Amino acid sequence: MDFQLTEEQLAVQAAARDFAQSELWAGVIERDEHQKFPAEQIKKMGELGFMGMMVSPEYGGGGMDTVSYVLAMEEISKVDASCSVIMSVNNSLVCWGLEKYGTEEQKRKYLPGLTSGEIIGAFALSEPEAGSDATSQRTTAEDMGDHYLLNGTKNWITNGTTASVYLVVAQTNPEAKHRGINVLIVDKGMEGFVTSPKENKLGIRGSDTCSLQFTDVKVPKENRIGDDGFGFKFAMQVLAGGRIGIAAQALGIASGAYELSLKYAQERKAFGVPISQHQAIQFKLADMATNIDAARLLCLQSAHDKDAHQDYAKSGAMAKLFASKVAMDTAVEAVQIHGGYGFVKEYHVERMMRDAKITQIYEGTSEIQKIVISREILK
Ligand code: CAA
Repeated sequence: MDFQLTEEQLAVQAAARDFAQSELWAGVIERDEHQKFPAEQIKKMGELGFMGMMVSPEYGGGGMDTVSYVLAMEEISKVDASCSVIMSVNNSLVCWGLEKYGTEEQKRKYLPGLTSGEIIGAFALSEPEAGSDATSQRTTAEDMGDHYLLNGTKNWITNGTTASVYLVVAQTNPEAKHRGINVLIVDKGMEGFVTSPKENKLGIRGSDTCSLQFTDVKVPKENRIGDDGFGFKFAMQVLAGGRIGIAAQALGIASGAYELSLKYAQERKAFGVPISQHQAIQFKLADMATNIDAARLLCLQSAHDKDAHQDYAKSGAMAKLFASKVAMDTAVEAVQIHGGYGFVKEYHVERMMRDAKITQIYEGTSEIQKIVISREILK
């Protein structure tokens, strides 16, 4: 792995930092408080190329590498983890999956809108009874010849109410178990498809999460991604890449909380000196900085593996496992350093602490990451 970022990568990082500071910072508390979806901000992110960073320019994307994506995700997550999860699902799960495995027609139909931010995508795998155990899909896609008949419920779907296009995982042939699963592209507005009101969440409150209900939805055969029965492998592949994005999100939450803590510790005085001069605070800052650097290295390693066309299932899971723990630990310590101020909204770190928790849950819990890592080690 080359530790030196290229000029291009540095430029992407600087652009994401500028955008986050100038366009996201001012309204982030209000969006969190009122669960307000950042529609305008996402539109601008599309215009700046953040919504389809790795997609080829042929389909309207930025043609960038995964390292650049990680750098941008970190900067945006430092300020607003709601915006970054919308970005991550759109980039890693939807755009990447469509570009890698979609037909030419599917790519031409959906990618230009998804990369420009005109439309948003969602990935629908989780169900009331299939979260970690992704093979136990109850949603069915019955093969009716020229179309599938889709029935079932999906839970916890990021971009659930705001998306225009959904990649829906469903079981076609239960006897074949996970090899009978398909992924279908479902457009908003298809008859029989409704979304529930959005969930009232602990964190990432600007992003919308909801359930999807499918009742006899007719999905044309040409909306299937890949061959019949490829759906589970497709889901595992996009999640492996998605974990790199969520690891970078966790890294960003941690570095955002750390930067605020460092500044606060140098300004806030107690016992006659800035609290940064007390060893109790210095130890916390040292731990935070060390953990964040280690998390960043894992994120960049997994991005590098993906860019080098090497296996990244293990390194992506390691990055997500570690960075999400660092996000949680760092945000808790950031609140502690801020004392009473850390417990109120104006100082941002309480939001970061709430946002951090989801990084240990979605795109596979920390326990699932350990399963993925140990399987790779032992195989
Ligand atoms: N790439 C390609 N294929 C893969 C793969 C990968 N990375 N990982 C597994 N597979 C394949 C296996 O090769 C196997 O195929 P064959 O049987 O044909 O050889 C098949 O998938 C089944 O694999 P396993 O036997 O390992 O499957 P399992 O049932 O034991 O489960 C698991 C594995 C890792 C636990 C998996 O179920 C999993 O990842 N669960 C978590 C799901 C998850 O992340 N959910 C999050 C929802 S999406 C989300 O959160 C988005 C958001 O909102 C932000």
